[in-house]
Amino acid sequence: MAFTELVFSGVQPTGNLHLGNYLGAIVNFVKMQETHNCIYCVVDMHAITQGVDVWGGPTELARNTREVTAAFIAAGIDPKKHIVFNQSQVAGHAELAWIFNCVARVGWLNRMTQFKEKAGKDRENASIGLYDYPVLMAADILLYRATHVPVGEDQKQHLELSRDIAQKFNNDFADSIRRSGFDDGLFFPLPEPLIMGPATRVMSLRDGTKKMSKSDASDYSRINLTDDADAIAQKIRKAKTDPEPLPSEEKGLEARPEADNLVGIFAALSARSKQDVLREFGGGQFSSFKNALVELCVSKLSPIAGEMKRLVADPAYIDRVLIDGADRARALADQTMTKTKDIVGFIRGQTGPW
Ligand code: AMP
Ligand code: TRP
Repeated sequence: MAFTELVFSGVQPTGNLHLGNYLGAIVNFVKMQETHNCIYCVVDMHAITQGVDVWGGPTELARNTREVTAAFIAAGIDPKKHIVFNQSQVAGHAELAWIFNCVARVGWLNRMTQFKEKAGKDRENASIGLYDYPVLMAADILLYRATHVPVGEDQKQHLELSRDIAQKFNNDFADSIRRSGFDDGLFFPLPEPLIMGPATRVMSLRDGTKKMSKSDASDYSRINLTDDADAIAQKIRKAKTDPEPLPSEEKGLEARPEADNLVGIFAALSARSKQDVLREFGGGQFSSFKNALVELCVSKLSPIAGEMKRLVADPAYIDRVLIDGADRARALADQTMTKTKDIVGFIRGQTGPW
């Protein structure tokens, strides 16, 4: 069966949206709008999987949910042409996740590296939600039977799990799926990760071997989307480098993680290749390259920060966007849940929702 190509992706409202989120994910969300119908979700149910000290409590969660929504819109996502909403408003995410909990295997989840990283040493004390996180993520995508998922490099393993879940569901329920009118036995598509651009894994400005992350204790490790020009300049000037001049060839970046990261950021922000950037700056000192990078970063990010500020000052508008998006998402989700319930054998009423 040919699935209609549909894009789905999500971002957690856990604060400190940064350049990694922007270049690894949001820039590609914007791009995909030109060719696909897109659904972009602020995944507030994922956000609460770690302790309240991480997600900050109810006031912070609501604030961060609005801030991610504002970032989407400020970056160029059109919530009228596409769908922008927060996950908890569409009950199907949790419902489908439960069904998928009964499809996914413990052994599969035990292999998830992000759980191991986030749970740390005290694994016994991690929430069940954190462990189950990738199953909810599979439900997010497959609730809309989405086929393409733009994400940063770190989500690749989760996407593979989503494919495994889709495939096992299709196998486990093959006869029922056929009886429901899907002659080829394919109900869920196997979603494809779209990991695109020269900055799919933006690294910390303090340590080129560590991912740029919302949770790094040092604010100097990341450029936040809300940073002003002065903060951006300071952070880039202080960014760790090595004593060598920049190489002229891309292979000269090997084993130089900080240089590689800064060149990758420059390339992504200017929509050029790393090699092209090195053609201009290779052989030169970091200081002049950093000056150019500051200018580029400020010119690309300042308008977004300004627009975000304007948008979050009008929470009623943001909430209307999320409510309208959720209504449209729910209409699609209901169709999948109706069929999924029939396939599984759950009895349901004929009049809505299900
Ligand atoms: P999260 O903030 O964890 O919800 O991530 C939202 C999106 O940003 C996901 O697609 C991630 O893969 C992406 N992302 C997060 N950190 C980075 C990074 N350092 N470099 C590139 N992409 C990232
Ligand atoms: N796990 C993703 C992250 O942390 C966020 C996410 C939740 C997501 N559900 C998703 C991404 C569905 C893509 C598709 O980055």
